[in-house]
Amino acid sequence: MTTPGRFITLEGVDGAGKSTHLDFVAGRLRARGHEVVLTREPGGTALGEALRELLLHRDMDASTELLLMFAARQQHLAELIHPALARGAWVVSDRFTDASYAYQCGGRGIDASRVAVLENWVQGGFAPHLTLLFDLPAEVAEARRAAARAADRFEREADGFFDRVRQAYLSRAEAEPGRIRVLDARQSIPDLQAAIADLLDRLE
Ligand code: TYD
Repeated sequence: MTTPGRFITLEGVDGAGKSTHLDFVAGRLRARGHEVVLTREPGGTALGEALRELLLHRDMDASTELLLMFAARQQHLAELIHPALARGAWVVSDRFTDASYAYQCGGRGIDASRVAVLENWVQGGFAPHLTLLFDLPAEVAEARRAAARAADRFEREADGFFDRVRQAYLSRAEAEPGRIRVLDARQSIPDLQAAIADLLDRLE
């Protein structure tokens, strides 16, 4: 019987640098002999990527945004994540449900109980085995974003939004310290990679 794979997610405010570390995470796991599937949310499937276009560029009601995030997530789980894990692959996703709690609850002010209903519907008890949270003060993240790229709909929000997103992430990490590991994203890339390697090597 195949041993099911592991599901690892990367989270943080926009500009915290998580995307920089995706390839490092994948390389480290491949070196251990695992098949690795790299993916992202919103997105990860053809339908999910179409929804991502809408989510990042079309104005909409906050609840519509939340529902579309979970519609994309349902497709992602059914089409990609669950089949990959079942064949023994390790799946690494750039964002997952913690982002819905951070952005739609923390950022937009939707009640967490509404997200919990959707999470339960779409995921049952399914959750990542390990979440790396790249933590950075909102103003530092803002400066990094400004230097790096054109802003999407989320990235045009004011600093107060990202501070609330950050605090929501940190309170989730406090509630689930075993799964969500906080990394200080102000560290140098080599120092961060050493910390990431250590966490990955401890994951059975
Ligand atoms: P992101 O993954 O940061 O992509 P890029 O690095 O290309 O900017 O962008 C996705 C955006 O979607 C990000 O601003 C956070 C947002 N998001 C939510 O608001 N809720 C969610 O549940 C997810 C998965 C993402």
